[in-house]
Amino acid sequence: MTLAPPPSSRVQLTDDGKLRHFLSVEHLSRSLLEDMLDTAASFVDVGGRAIKKVPLLRGKTVVNLFFESSTRTRSTFELAAKRLSADVLNLDISKSATSKGETLLDTLRNLEAMAADMFVVRHQDSGAPFFIANEVTPGVAVINAGDGRHAHPTQAMLDMYTIRHYKGGFDGLRVAIVGDVLHSRVARSQIHALNILGAEEVRLIGPRTLLPVAAESLGVTVFNDMAQGLRDVDVVIMLRLQKERMDSAFLPSEAEFFRLYGLNNEKLRHAKPDAIVMHPGPINRGVEIASEVADGPRSVILNQVTFGIAVRMAVMSMAISGQESSQNPEQGEDHGR
Ligand code: CP
Repeated sequence: MTLAPPPSSRVQLTDDGKLRHFLSVEHLSRSLLEDMLDTAASFVDVGGRAIKKVPLLRGKTVVNLFFESSTRTRSTFELAAKRLSADVLNLDISKSATSKGETLLDTLRNLEAMAADMFVVRHQDSGAPFFIANEVTPGVAVINAGDGRHAHPTQAMLDMYTIRHYKGGFDGLRVAIVGDVLHSRVARSQIHALNILGAEEVRLIGPRTLLPVAAESLGVTVFNDMAQGLRDVDVVIMLRLQKERMDSAFLPSEAEFFRLYGLNNEKLRHAKPDAIVMHPGPINRGVEIASEVADGPRSVILNQVTFGIAVRMAVMSMAISGQESSQNPEQGEDHGR
C-alpha cells in the first residue's frame, strides 16, 4: 500500500520526488537530504575560484523577499544566486509598497509579472512561504529563508553540512542544542534534520521556560542542567535569546542566563575534547556565548557561514531543476553540476 505523502512533502516535491520548493526539512527523506549535502559539496570549491561562477541559473531571476531583518541568510542567498549566474532582485521591503497597504499576494503577483523564477522568503508569520508556494505560478520555486517560529530549513542544512564536514557523518553522534529552543525556528529544523540523518542523540539544554512543552515527543532528550547535558557530546549548537519573539518574562536576567547556560571554556570541558561549537548567528557575546569560545579553536561559527553559500547554491539548483522537470518531464534529470 502506498501512503499519501504528508502535506509539506506534497507541496515541496514533484510527483516523482524531486525538490521543487524548499519550505521545511520535516517529512523529507534521508536520501534527499544527503543528495542536498552532496550537491553542496560539489559547489564548495566555486568560492575559491578566480571567477566564482557556474552557469546553472543563467537567465533565471531570483527575488529575495525579506520581511524580517537578516545579515547572513540574505547575503548568502544573494551570493549563491550570483555564483549560479542568476539575476538577483533584493526587494527592500521597508521602501516597498507594502508600507502603502499592498498585500503579500498582490506584491507576489507584481513580481511574477516581472518574470521571477524563484522567491526566497523570510517572513515573521509562520507558514508564509507555504502560502506563497501554494499561490505561485507553476514553474516558480519558493525557498523558505525563515518563517516565524516555524522553520529555517536552509540554516539547518548548512548546519548539517558543517557537522558532516567536521565529524564525517551522523552515526553515533551526540548533538546538544542549547538555550532558547522555544522560540527558535533554527532548532526545530535542526532537530528534524538530525533525526532524519540518523544522529544517535539530540539533546536540548535550557531552562524549562525556554524549552517546548513535551519536547521529548520531538525525538530528543531534555536537560535543564548544562554540565549534565553537555557531557560527552560531539557537537554543541548555541542559540540566541530571541527577545523579539518573547511576550513575557522568560528569564530572571541575561546575567543569570549566562551564568547557568552561557557557554564558556569551563562549561565546554564537559563536552568531548574534540567537540565543535556552532551558532547560527547573530551571536550575543556574554549572553549565550563567551568570546573565549566564540573566537576559540573549537568554534566553527564562521565556517557555517561559508558553507551556507554552497548549501544555498545546492538548494536553488535542485529547486529550479525540480520545477523544470515538472514542467517538462524530459528535462531536469540532474542538478546541472
Ligand atoms: N542565521 C541567520 O538566519 O542569520 P540572519 O538573521 O543574519 O540571516
